Amino acid sequence: MDQIDYFPTASLDAGMSISRSMAEFLEATCAEFKPAVSVDVGTGNGSSLCALARQAPLGGVVWTVDSQEQFLERGRAQLSRITHQADVHFILAPLLKNGTNKSRWWYNPVPLENVQGPINLLFVDGPEGFYDRGAALPCFLDRLAPNARIYLDDLKRPGEQAAFKRWKELLTKRSIPFSACHLEVARGVGEIVIRKG
Ligand SMILES: C[S@@+](CC[C@H](N)C(=O)[O-])C[C@H]1O[C@@H](n2cnc3c(N)ncnc32)[C@H](O)[C@@H]1O
Repeated sequence: MDQIDYFPTASLDAGMSISRSMAEFLEATCAEFKPAVSVDVGTGNGSSLCALARQAPLGGVVWTVDSQEQFLERGRAQLSRITHQADVHFILAPLLKNGTNKSRWWYNPVPLENVQGPINLLFVDGPEGFYDRGAALPCFLDRLAPNARIYLDDLKRPGEQAAFKRWKELLTKRSIPFSACHLEVARGVGEIVIRKG
């Protein structure tokens, strides 16, 4: 694999990027799985976006979502530094405040309706940790491909563990066959593989 070259400098809150091991995992997964459509929730510094774009197959599409234009701009800047063949779409979806409890804030679902499936790979790394990433699966569930792979970053945190548990309960309730596991990559990642296909 080529040297990974799309990590931000410290001045761009480097800690907000995915880790290098997560980027390597994402690139290896895309190289093997060849997702035609990927969704990157939480553009941030653009590191996960670059990992997905760099290994997208010919004709592949990557959708990347953030709540603030400045992070989409960072994503565009990082993307311009790498070689890729993906068709990348940037979606601005401000967080909707559902009461005062930040754990219940989620991106405005209206812009997210522009994301066209079937989604083969969904990578969830936003919103920020103290918000609720659990809304990601209900939001995209009906657009997932029959063999979709879903990844939830930062699974070592209690909030993400609770969200991952709710995802498994939702799939079970909807009688959607799947397998799930916790991977010891970086800050922990939850993997769900849909097995309808
Ligand atoms: C963990 S970051 C996403 C990182 C991204 N996947 C990457 O690889 O660069 C999650 C979200 O937190 C938000 N965020 C990042 N840095 C922030 C900051 N300094 N202040 C406020 N929000 C921030 C952005 O909306 C970002 O998408």
